[in-house]
Amino acid sequence: MNVVIVKDYFAMSQYAANQIIELVNKQKGKKVVLGLATGNTPIGMYQELVKNYRDEKVSFLDVVSFNLDEYYPIDASHSLSFTSFMKHYFFDHVDIQMENVFIPLVERDSTEKEIQAFCQAYEKKIKTYGGIDLQILGIGSNGHIGFNEPGTPFYSRTHLVKLTDETIQANGLRENGLEVNQAITVGIETIMESKKILLLASGQDKTKIMKQFFERNVTVNLPASILKKHSNVTIVIDKGALGAQK
Ligand code: F6R
Repeated sequence: MNVVIVKDYFAMSQYAANQIIELVNKQKGKKVVLGLATGNTPIGMYQELVKNYRDEKVSFLDVVSFNLDEYYPIDASHSLSFTSFMKHYFFDHVDIQMENVFIPLVERDSTEKEIQAFCQAYEKKIKTYGGIDLQILGIGSNGHIGFNEPGTPFYSRTHLVKLTDETIQANGLRENGLEVNQAITVGIETIMESKKILLLASGQDKTKIMKQFFERNVTVNLPASILKKHSNVTIVIDKGALGAQK
């Protein structure tokens, strides 16, 4: 596990964006498969990517992307959907081809069987494209990655989850009038199959969980802890998230 300590949120965002840009430019003309996250953590990274695209330092024409998760049920057009988030911060501003963009958005009122079939198809699609080359992750204050909440088996694959109250609160769903308590998320095993993983952590809200991440052994109670077993993972953490060690 590599650990990169950076000054602040901006430096973390730049580091992550540069990793993506280097990979995409190195593979020029060949497909690059990115695993993408939403939430506050990667917003700065997307802004950097858009800036570099505008400066003609990178093109996303050859990029295929798979988002980690999406609420269920939700309409793509809802302002809190991860689909809206991705368009707002990234897709609408770069030359990525929308047919190369995948988000686990399942049609409302789907049956259990239909949801399962969707999840299996999502996994299959990732495999068809040769797997995720670079997966970007944030970390929940309870240690979740994707929406794999504490207790999720490490062998999990794309599935429907019930969100914890902590996550519902952290994501401000109720105060924004969204009565949703489920989501589709790629599984922990799906994440672990990525060729390279970047876990980003910024700010004091993440100090407690990152301290646990570094100190605790691998446990399902802290889903992100499994990343320690990945052969190519980099933790990009800013001084705020390091907190106590300032
Ligand atoms: C988002 C995701 C989540 C977030 C995590 C941290 O696609 O999968 O695991 O990365 O909840 O969220 P923020 O960045 O808002 O602190």
